[in-house]
Amino acid sequence: MSTSWKTRLIHADVRVPEGYRSLAAPTFRGSTTLFSSASSVSDAWNQYETGYTYGLYGTPTTLELAERIRELEQGYRTVITPGGQSAISLINLAFLGAGDHVLLPASIYGPHRKLADNLLRRFGLDHSYYEPTVGEGIQAVMKPNTRLVWCESPGSITMEVQDLPAITRVAHANGTLVAVDNTWSGGVYFDALAHGADITMQALTKYVGGHSDLLLGSVTVKNEADWQKVGATHQELGFAASPDDCTLALRGMKTLAVRLAAIEASALSIARWLADRPEIERVLHPALNSCPGHEIWRRDFTGSSGVFAIVFRSGTTKEQVVAFVDALQIFKIGYSWGGVTSLAVAYDLTEWTGRPNYQHRIVRLNIGLEDTDDLIADLERGLRKMFGYA
Ligand SMILES: Cc1ncc(COP(=O)(O)O)c(C=O)c1O
Repeated sequence: MSTSWKTRLIHADVRVPEGYRSLAAPTFRGSTTLFSSASSVSDAWNQYETGYTYGLYGTPTTLELAERIRELEQGYRTVITPGGQSAISLINLAFLGAGDHVLLPASIYGPHRKLADNLLRRFGLDHSYYEPTVGEGIQAVMKPNTRLVWCESPGSITMEVQDLPAITRVAHANGTLVAVDNTWSGGVYFDALAHGADITMQALTKYVGGHSDLLLGSVTVKNEADWQKVGATHQELGFAASPDDCTLALRGMKTLAVRLAAIEASALSIARWLADRPEIERVLHPALNSCPGHEIWRRDFTGSSGVFAIVFRSGTTKEQVVAFVDALQIFKIGYSWGGVTSLAVAYDLTEWTGRPNYQHRIVRLNIGLEDTDDLIADLERGLRKMFGYA
């Protein structure tokens, strides 16, 4: 068929050589995917069964990342979401309905708490918070309509390591599912599914991405029935992830082991140095016995990553804590950890209910890949400044 150059701009008749074998995963972008005939058109979300139907449900790049995460976590299927928070929303919306009750640890990631307090409540979902170190005592806070128990181990900011096997034993005896936010372990230092979880999620934004330049999340399930719920809800919510970000995450995965090993060693040296400082009351690092749940970390985890918190001694003022963070020069101030840059953020837990009484005296650190001695010197600078001896 002879066509105008205008048509050929869109429907070209060219060939390039096949068989290019790159070590890098190609980036497949796309909304429309083509069907071979009118009768084969379908809007099915399960690309593993139907083949590709629409970019929203995954391109080969998105699905490759999903499969890589699934393989690492030893799950049945994984879906990729536009960020960690959307992975959290997806799980809540896939497994809960009006009239159901969900249990959240009091140490849950802040925006997850907001989701439960606001949007989920507006749609008729009841929730309550439990002490993260509760273990089998979770039975006392279960309700007849508790459909889901969330764990986040260690918890955000206050770092409690949770007894997942104990919690899942009780939850399963009540016919209740358990979901775990497994972001801190990078999905590799804690095998949450093997320890009883039914569903795991990670903010791939953190260690898998590893360079503070992307936002992605993952949800992994253990069986076909849960996969059907997650996949259908993912379609209905339209939680498409960027294939470009997936390519970056696939690249990040290749160096995850070496980054985590270096970060772990540096974070441990820094945490131990801080534990010896008289200005500091407590170091909340899961690998130190000053952290609630340390013995569970020893039992269940195979390593530690680079996020932990320090609590200044009683009597330290909020102004001093702020002066400490402001005096740091290598540590930057910012959210979203897991990258190569060390970060420090001061929190004020005075208004939080049911939390340990650390008030304004707590600072969360994210250890990156800078030289450990330089980071220690930076922290020492902060301590001198805050207590006015420099
Ligand atoms: C434990 C935890 N879960 C989930 C998230 C949310 O991830 P994202 O920022 O990709 O939405 C974060 C982000 O800080 C987090 O710390």
